[in-house]
Formats: sequence, C-alpha cells, structure tokens
Amino acid sequence: MNNTTYLEQIDQAVAYIKTKIQQNPTVGIVLGSGIGALADEIEEAIAIPYKEIPHFPVSTVAGHKGNLFFGRLGGQNVMAMQGRFHYYEGYTMREVTFPIRVMARLGVKTLFVSNAAGAVNPSYRVGDLMIITDHINTMPNPLIGPNMEEFGVRFPDMTMPYSSRLRRRAQSLADQRGLMLQQGVYVGTTGPSFETRSEYRYFATIGADAVGMSTVPEVIVARHSGIEVFGMSIITNQSNSLGEDCLNDGNDVIQAAQRATLTLTSLFKDLIASL
Ligand code: HPA
Repeated sequence: MNNTTYLEQIDQAVAYIKTKIQQNPTVGIVLGSGIGALADEIEEAIAIPYKEIPHFPVSTVAGHKGNLFFGRLGGQNVMAMQGRFHYYEGYTMREVTFPIRVMARLGVKTLFVSNAAGAVNPSYRVGDLMIITDHINTMPNPLIGPNMEEFGVRFPDMTMPYSSRLRRRAQSLADQRGLMLQQGVYVGTTGPSFETRSEYRYFATIGADAVGMSTVPEVIVARHSGIEVFGMSIITNQSNSLGEDCLNDGNDVIQAAQRATLTLTSLFKDLIASL
C-alpha cells in the first residue's frame, strides 16, 4: 500500500472518530494483556468498538478487548486502546501501529504504553512493575518503506525514546507511596513463542531487563510522530526459575498482569493528572 492510501485510511478513521467525540484527546494510552482495567476509570467515557472504525484492525488475543475509549482521566482528554495489535497475530507493522498514527492525527501529545513482560534480569520478581528506560528492537522496524513526511523525518532520533521527565515523576510518585519500582530495558521480540532459556540469557547479556512481544513498534511510530512516551511493564514471569516442571504459560501471564494492574492504573492516572 502506498503512503497516500495509508494516510487516507488514517484520516478516514480519524474523521469517523471525530463524529463520535466532543473533544480531541491529548493523551493516548495503550493497555496491554490483562491490563485493561484503566479503561473503567475514564469518566464520561465513550467506547467505540474497533470493528466500527474504518480500516482499524481487530484484535484476536485472549485478554485483549477491542475498544477505543474516549473521555476524561486525571483532568485530561484521553483516548485508550483496550487491546492492542501484535505482529505475531499476522498484522503488518503498518497495521500494528495504525492506532498510533490515528492518535497523532487526533492531536495526542503524550502516549502511555503498558505491557506484560518476562523478567530477564534475575533480580526481578513476578508482580514487579518496571519503568521502561529504553528498548532494544529485534522486530522489523515499523518505519520501513517510504517515509511519511506528514508525521516525521526519515531517520528519527531514538537516543531517548522514553521521556526522562515522566520517568523521574513516576519514580517520585512511587517513592512518595513507598512503592518499589524497577527501572529497566525492554527488548521487543516478534513472539509468539516464549524464549528458550538460552535466549533469556542472551537478552540479559545484550543489556535487557525484560522481554515482551509488543510496545516497541508503537513507541517508534509515536516518536516518529513527535509524541512523548512513557512506558511501563508488569513482570509476569521469571526466566530464572524455568525448567522441567516450570514452563511459561500465556494464561499465567495474563493472571499475573491482572494482579499488578491496580498499581499501574493509579500511577498512570497520577502521571496523567500531572501533565
Ligand atoms: N517473553 C516474551 N513475551 C512475554 C513474556 C516472556 O517471557 N512474558 C510476557 N510476555
């Protein structure tokens, strides 16, 4: 698909959404596996099913719901994706990141992303929350293809994708509440298979603290579009305990994510209120 057609599709989605909402959002939120609860906190919420929005992909994974929420959170106009699209589902990278382009065209300035991730750092425990300080991309880059000049430059800077001011603020909010947060590097893989034990060790060696199958494409496209990004992972499984009688299981991942969701939700809310 050429850029003109892709941009037309983005703008048709935007035009449809604008017929449903009163105020344009300035904050975007992507809620990962088992973390959808934040959507319940949105006031004056309007939910638009993905399947109603022209050209919007539809999500297929357990634990991911397919609604776009608009409303007020922490005094800001927000839009939240309850359910995201993963490369492993078979979507193209342009489909995976379509909602981020829609956010950009609607006027979103700050993006909050969340995900469930496996621990690579041996000191991490199931249920830990990690502020994403940086990422390592092992997936195809979502910006491959002719550059979309309407959004950003051909070779976008990626030295600091995750806002340092929001990271600092998140840490001080956590300190005030006596909450322990990890800060670490997220490595994005295509999935859908979990890592072998050797791959977990390899990711530790290259500087990663947690591993997951999402987030990186959305963050690259958000940064390309000039959107500030804050990201957080819920640690749902530990690689160091894996072996004969302890294997990775997608259902355990979703349950672990749901348990840490309340804390993540309240941090996101306070950060949004501080914008
Ligand atoms: N690996 C990759 N993705 C994940 C994991 C993991 O261990 N846990 C949750 N998402």
